[in-house]
Amino acid sequence: MFLSDNLKIFSGSSNPELASDVCKYLGIPLGGAHIERFPDGEKAIRVEDDVRGRDCFVVQSTCKPVDEHLVELLIYLDCLRRASASRITVVIPYFGYARQDRKDEGRVPITAKLVANLITTAGANRVLAIDLHANQLQGFFDIPVDHLTGELVLNKYFRDKKINNLTVVSPDVGNMKMASRYASNLGGELAIVHKKRVNGREVEANEIIGEVEGRNILMCDDIIATAGTMCSAASLLKERGAEKIFVSATHGVFASPAFERLEQAPIDEVVVTNTIPLNERAQEVGSIKVLSVASMLGEAIKRIHRNESISNLFNNI
Ligand code: R5P
Repeated sequence: MFLSDNLKIFSGSSNPELASDVCKYLGIPLGGAHIERFPDGEKAIRVEDDVRGRDCFVVQSTCKPVDEHLVELLIYLDCLRRASASRITVVIPYFGYARQDRKDEGRVPITAKLVANLITTAGANRVLAIDLHANQLQGFFDIPVDHLTGELVLNKYFRDKKINNLTVVSPDVGNMKMASRYASNLGGELAIVHKKRVNGREVEANEIIGEVEGRNILMCDDIIATAGTMCSAASLLKERGAEKIFVSATHGVFASPAFERLEQAPIDEVVVTNTIPLNERAQEVGSIKVLSVASMLGEAIKRIHRNESISNLFNNI
């Protein structure tokens, strides 16, 4: 594909493999940058390519260690802005801090808005993100946001799998729309689990609305963090006579004790994307499969660079 040498892609240290796969898709080299730490612990970044007047993209998931990756991204943006890049797009495959997106009790922050402000102030002109937890988070940025979804790759995987007798299950009320899109795309019935969150690590799955007995299940969510949501729902589904249980999510955060829970849960397969790199422990959990979002991101970057439509990307979903 022809791309002008005006296009530059850089990688933060959160997900260099994904950034390099995006560059492979685009057929361009990854931009050179040197990231190091001063002895006092501060981070220093030096971009090694000439970026003056260039269209620059920085790929960085603000995943664990969240604050470190976030500050690194902010420094990267400042660096590119001061080096006279003509436009800077932040590519955030996984946007950490997204779940604190409203004041649901007194004296708590809205970190999603705070982080959006920080990214804009540091120099970003545009954002390219994947499954921002809630669609309205696009409006937290006062710059253009192109919002992709992991459903593009996950849907294709499950369509090819041709699961018969399928019921798509939303593990909570918040995911109902996503589950209903999966059900209509894959041709399944729809069910929903009533979930109660006890605290950050514990959830209870209390009731199921919909038919699951004797059915194969696909349960979908945007994030698997401690896996409490998925595992408690899977146990309830099994109790109610479900057959095979497949689980899908865009972001595999896998915070402790996710792996232990997934190993014990009645789940046949867990499918996530590589918005967050998986650690070695994840490979020990045989049921986890990772799909790549590199070509989806690469295609979106190409279209942004050429001022072409991103909406067309969604035609196959
Ligand atoms: C909640 O709103 C999200 O969609 C996920 O259900 C939640 O973040 C999953 O968290 P955990 O895996 O810790 O239950």
